[in-house]
Amino acid sequence: MDLFEYLDGHLWCEAVPVRDLAARHGTPLYVYSAGTLAAHYRRMQQAFAELQPLICFSVKCCSNVHILRRLAALGAGFDVVSGGELYRALRAGGDPAHIVFAGVGKTVGEMREALRAGVGLLNVESASELATLATVAAELGARPEAALRIIPEVDAGTHAYTTTGTRASKFGLPLEQAAELVRSYADSPHVHIRGLHLHIGSPVYDPQAYALSIGRALDLMGRLAQEGFALDTLDIGGGYGAHYQGQEAPAAADYAAAIVPLLRGRHLRVILEPGRSIAANAGVLVTRVLHTKETGSRRFVIVDASMTELIRPALYSAYHFVWPVEAGDRVPRGWSPAQPPDGLETVDVVGPVCESGDFLARQRALPPLRPGDLVAVFTAGAYGMAMASQYNSRPRPAEVLVEQGAARLIRRRETYADLVRAEDDLDP
Ligand code: LLP
Repeated sequence: MDLFEYLDGHLWCEAVPVRDLAARHGTPLYVYSAGTLAAHYRRMQQAFAELQPLICFSVKCCSNVHILRRLAALGAGFDVVSGGELYRALRAGGDPAHIVFAGVGKTVGEMREALRAGVGLLNVESASELATLATVAAELGARPEAALRIIPEVDAGTHAYTTTGTRASKFGLPLEQAAELVRSYADSPHVHIRGLHLHIGSPVYDPQAYALSIGRALDLMGRLAQEGFALDTLDIGGGYGAHYQGQEAPAAADYAAAIVPLLRGRHLRVILEPGRSIAANAGVLVTRVLHTKETGSRRFVIVDASMTELIRPALYSAYHFVWPVEAGDRVPRGWSPAQPPDGLETVDVVGPVCESGDFLARQRALPPLRPGDLVAVFTAGAYGMAMASQYNSRPRPAEVLVEQGAARLIRRRETYADLVRAEDDLDP
């Protein structure tokens, strides 16, 4: 998987042994590869080059400011969904004009922050939100650019919690409601509706689902243009897949092959909001085995990482490939769980948190593990640390970025004092 590789039985991140990082920074530990991050960003850029899109990295998937800074340096804009994410994107040196602000529930305060910062595009999801935005803009003497997020009525076939393209989801506006808003705000001195926004789910493994929803957006734009309401921006969102198991995700070029022909020659400003496809395989979560036990029914490997570091298995039953950092001659062949090496034990890899749903991997064939062994949880760079919590009063882990042969600490491990910082010095 990218620049995380087994050489001589050890897991390396670029030119650094992961074992050394765990020894230096402790576990649980997030380790990122800057080279992998850049490679995935460039693949997206090259695949869609013909459209010269603005690529807005989705901050929600991996929001460490040092990682955002690397992406800004590569030319990325940012997709943000909160005042906090806007703050991070700006701290990372993001160009406000290349920031898009999405989300169904922007507050007045967040709208003011976005307008004061000069955010390039606000993706609006309801008539109520648009009216509030116009009021805030009038108050500040601004005329922000907006896109309306539409419901294309495409079921992207994702987990129920991450599907967003149908009327049963809270996101977006039915096509006719969006059309009505474009008409009624055409002369607004306070908001300039420039386009439409789509995001149908995450991860979406079928490029045709994008084609279908973009087709619906283009139909609507065509109808509005005939009425004299021209729109020039189409934000097609994120959701591009990543390899969790093997080589299951379409490549950036496969998505582009389905999407680019639809948008060729239309002179639209195209925006992409990839997150996972750039960051997921640029990060691993490193954890240490604390104990093992047998219950007669199952064999458990209890590690020091849990759902507080990586909630995806608990929340979506998500699969993450897990393997010892020191694998000896049991190096996974071609990363395919379908071809496991010999001499494995079937175990559940679980964390210390007091929930039965606290697992990282279930019924997995792994080399025998003993207390003290290090285990890597792969494809953890997206929606890993960004979704980490302090549940069970567990300080959040450290993050390290490996770049050009050197490892830099990009977030220190939290302390117990960090756990109570916002409660201290109060006298209620
Ligand atoms: N744009 C919008 C409007 C989004 O809502 C999202 C993700 C993205 C872009 C980025 O999607 P990506 O390219 O990363 O797939 N926590 C879940 C994923 C939730 C995605 C939410 N929205 C997970 O761990 O799978």
